[in-house]
Amino acid sequence: MKMSASAPGKLLLLGDHAVVYGRPCLVTAVDLRYRATVETLPGDTVEILTPQLDAPRRVIATAVGSSAPRETAFVEAAVARVFERAGQQTGLRVTTAGPPLSYGLGSSSAITVATVAALAALLDLDLTRAEQFALAYDAVLAVQGTGSGFDLAAALYGGTLYFVTGGKMIEPLTVPHLPLVIGYSGSKVGTVNLVAEVARRREQRPAVIDGIFDVMRHLVEDGRQQLVAGDWSAFGELMNLNQGLLDALGVNTPSLTRLIESARAAGAAGAKLSGAGGGDCMYAVHSGKVDTIAAAISAAGGDVVAVPVHAPGVRLEDAI
Ligand code: MEV
Repeated sequence: MKMSASAPGKLLLLGDHAVVYGRPCLVTAVDLRYRATVETLPGDTVEILTPQLDAPRRVIATAVGSSAPRETAFVEAAVARVFERAGQQTGLRVTTAGPPLSYGLGSSSAITVATVAALAALLDLDLTRAEQFALAYDAVLAVQGTGSGFDLAAALYGGTLYFVTGGKMIEPLTVPHLPLVIGYSGSKVGTVNLVAEVARRREQRPAVIDGIFDVMRHLVEDGRQQLVAGDWSAFGELMNLNQGLLDALGVNTPSLTRLIESARAAGAAGAKLSGAGGGDCMYAVHSGKVDTIAAAISAAGGDVVAVPVHAPGVRLEDAI
């Protein structure tokens, strides 16, 4: 028996970092899809193959839960939780697939969610999306110890969401076409390190940092209205304010600034980094100047990531 599922990546629109601390964020799913295929094996060996990684890895675990490289660790943790929920365990091969370069747009969360969905289907386990979220979130926390879970929600639900920490609220939004240009800054610092750095600043100055998070909550509440109304000039203004606050949190970089400033100079209504910062992606909203803005981002040293947003959530696929 073989089952396969694919799930999309994510782009955090507003509320980065604050969403780790009980505030809401806005996120859209991006159509960079990652796939997990699971098949039963005789015995109790669990094999995890991640050929899409730069250095393909093959991990063989007789008991899930051993220490493993990053992508396989998420898969292992997801498998362990689904086995536990199902009350049964079998020999298993998990093979993941997807774009080799994820741009920080959510490969781990997509792979985790795809693994949960494919394995639940293989074991005939009928899980609601909320149950799948809980299993996937538990798996991610076990591996990286931190995170709001917004990326898992995007992978599961797809579309564009209003999300509150830990899935306290996951609200799909009806939005018009999202006119976004995404730029990759070409570098990456681990999310966990940046979340830890913000936590350190918050320990030093709790009132200041919580104040910043409270302002971000207002930006998200306002931004949600503008997003649904398709008012890109108002939404862009909120993005720029959010970018200023992320700069204040210390997660901006000179290369992100270059891309953001050049997008604004080329006519973007707003531009900001997306996610943890320290590299990865920025995005801009435009009103019809997409080519000019994309050219400006490239000229400033960024890679334009042409990927559809508001993408469909996790789905079962034909297992090849
Ligand atoms: C990372 O992509 C976004 C953060 O808000 C962390 C999280 O929400 O898990 C920094």
